Amino acid sequence: MTIQVRPLLEEELGEADGIYRRAFGTFLSLPDPLAFDGDAQVLKCRWTADPDAALALLDEGALAGSNFVTRWGSVGLLGPLTVDPARQGRGLAHPLVETALRLLEGPQIAFRGLFTFAESPRHVGLYQRFGYWPAGLAGVMSKEIPKGTRAPEGAEALSRLSPDDQAEALSAFRELTDSVFSGLDVTGEVLSVGEQETGDTVFLNEGSQVAGLAVCHAGAGSEAGSGRVAVKFAAVRSGAGGQDRLQRLLDAVESWAASKGASVVAAGTGSGRVGAWQTLRAAGYRPFLQGVAMHRDRHPGYDREDVFVLDDWR
Ligand SMILES: CC(C)(COP(=O)(O)OP(=O)(O)OC[C@H]1O[C@@H](n2cnc3c(N)ncnc32)[C@H](O)[C@@H]1OP(=O)(O)O)[C@@H](O)C(=O)NCCC(=O)NCCS
Repeated sequence: MTIQVRPLLEEELGEADGIYRRAFGTFLSLPDPLAFDGDAQVLKCRWTADPDAALALLDEGALAGSNFVTRWGSVGLLGPLTVDPARQGRGLAHPLVETALRLLEGPQIAFRGLFTFAESPRHVGLYQRFGYWPAGLAGVMSKEIPKGTRAPEGAEALSRLSPDDQAEALSAFRELTDSVFSGLDVTGEVLSVGEQETGDTVFLNEGSQVAGLAVCHAGAGSEAGSGRVAVKFAAVRSGAGGQDRLQRLLDAVESWAASKGASVVAAGTGSGRVGAWQTLRAAGYRPFLQGVAMHRDRHPGYDREDVFVLDDWR
């Protein structure tokens, strides 16, 4: 048996996407597994954002699976991991996880996390072998955008700024995320939705300060899919007033989403971020998927009550 793990090539994206949809669609028992994820293009978006973060697994020379990592400065995420359903149960996931973990080595990355199916002993067990431990619930929620949603004062979208102002905003975003968790930096996500035109970064000004930012995917071809906006990452300044700031950031996201013709906004958070979870629920978001956030080496990450971060690690 010859198994090889190497970077995923652009020309393999279509085939890898088919395996990804069939693997998840089969696991979730969809009548048509290939219909998984609709017209969202998660793999294409991830590969384009960072081709070095995409891995292919070859079994006897044939593409048999893929895995991805996401690097947000000091935070490293693993997944989505998929193995062709016809080849599962033969240990192929192991080299895909091992090699991906090597991409998350190095002093810069302090915290490694992933999202998986809480109800699956097989999934949780696989990642436990590699040093991950279940840390809390990861809730992915959604909300129908109410009619007449209006942007709050201070709401902005990065693409509307001049290049100089965009550079200034990017450095303010970095300063904000670093204040939430040392070294956390989502510049790559911000640039990628802008360059790929798959979304925008909505943010909130409070006086001369940026009080919050939300990197959003919108519509077909993005990670969200038709009619939807997906908040990939959002954060507001921690501490007093955090709940109110996050509520206003959500208002800004919903109003931006409505302007893009979306009818639903999806956003997730961790159960350890009590204030963020409560704010989402109070704003009318309902969980449609509940997974487990697994943390490597039982690192607490940024799961604190006073941290108002929304993220989707899928
Ligand atoms: C999860 C997935 C990647 C695993 O791929 P795989 O090649 O079957 O995994 P492996 O054969 O390397 O096995 C991983 C573990 O699961 C166990 N396992 C595999 N198939 C199993 C089955 N049908 N029933 C029970 N356990 C099983 C293996 O014994 C192994 O456990 P071990 O490490 O203790 O030996 C694959 O099932 C898949 O693509 N699923 C759909 C997409 C998905 O769920 N991705 C992960 C989301 S976080």
